[in-house]
Amino acid sequence: MKTIAVLTSGGDAPGMNAAVRGVTRAAIAKGMTVKGVVRGYNGLIEDQIVDLGVRTVSDIIHRGGTILYTARSPLFKTEEGINKAVETCKKHGIEGIVVIGGDGSFRGARDLSLKGIPCIGIPATIDNDISSTEYTIGYDTAMNTAIEMVDRLRDTTQSHDRCSIVEVMGRHAGYLALQTGISCGAVSILVPEIKFDIEKDVIAKIKKIQKTGKQHFIVVVAEGVGGVDKIAEQIEKSTGIESRATILGHVQRGGSPTARDRVMASQMAYKAVDLLEKGIGNRVICLNNGKLIDRDIYEALSIPRSFDEEEYKLATALSI
Ligand code: ADP
Ligand code: F6P
Repeated sequence: MKTIAVLTSGGDAPGMNAAVRGVTRAAIAKGMTVKGVVRGYNGLIEDQIVDLGVRTVSDIIHRGGTILYTARSPLFKTEEGINKAVETCKKHGIEGIVVIGGDGSFRGARDLSLKGIPCIGIPATIDNDISSTEYTIGYDTAMNTAIEMVDRLRDTTQSHDRCSIVEVMGRHAGYLALQTGISCGAVSILVPEIKFDIEKDVIAKIKKIQKTGKQHFIVVVAEGVGGVDKIAEQIEKSTGIESRATILGHVQRGGSPTARDRVMASQMAYKAVDLLEKGIGNRVICLNNGKLIDRDIYEALSIPRSFDEEEYKLATALSI
């Protein structure tokens, strides 16, 4: 391939810029021309294409967000939208695309590959909810941000002998909440993957631990469970402990990527370009048993999501 493009799609994640830089430089080093698609699949439909050079991607490895912007594009899911996208690729001589995003973006990449534009997916989402890979770019940074925020909450929670109920992002998945909860010593962690009973798993537990002398508590709740205000009310009413609800929200999506996200983004980008150079498309880069592999997109998308119940048990065992 002589000309490839790169785009970021779906929710942004810290490390996306490092991946854009990696794709651009790896491809230029191999003698290819690189185009950037602005605002995800919308940019392909609306012909928003920019040239990327080695200097265009300078000074971005440490920046959160994405210099290419990102979007959710309902039109791309239609025949009309995808045909326009293919036309734009032809117009600019784009022979392959690296798609940086989540599962939804990979479905788009699969559809484009079927239309004759080979695509490689790089997993990037703070949710770490892509079943085909052990890691998604942005997760480590988001988790560290969440931890820092909960640590701050702990200070004020402790000073007032209160209970803080904190909602952590993750869409339908509880991974970010679980590991944030473990890292912050939460008394209870509520995730959509594990059935719970507020009375038994939160209130009774707080009452029991209170008897051992502990007077402040952190409860971490995944976004997929939600309802933190109501949970705070229930805890306050049943235990008498003043309770406050906090939704961390989009702060978790921003900030400078951690070393792990920068390195992972660079490695995945390098591998993605390597595949396109060989003319291989319709694959996603995945971390598997600690090594980077690539899988067929269709197969990758059909792998069922699993949840580490042992890790959940560990969190429960340590929060006594
Ligand atoms: P993520 O990639 O983070 O999972 P989304 O699910 O919002 O984010 O998907 C990003 C974009 O990918 C969508 O706006 C749409 O353009 C495209 N996409 C999502 N699902 C599909 C699908 N089933 N078929 C084709 N394109 C899709
Ligand atoms: O997928 C990343 C994510 O931040 C989820 O954790 C969250 O549910 C969603 O995106 C929020 O999306 P939006 O930015 O559209 O509010």
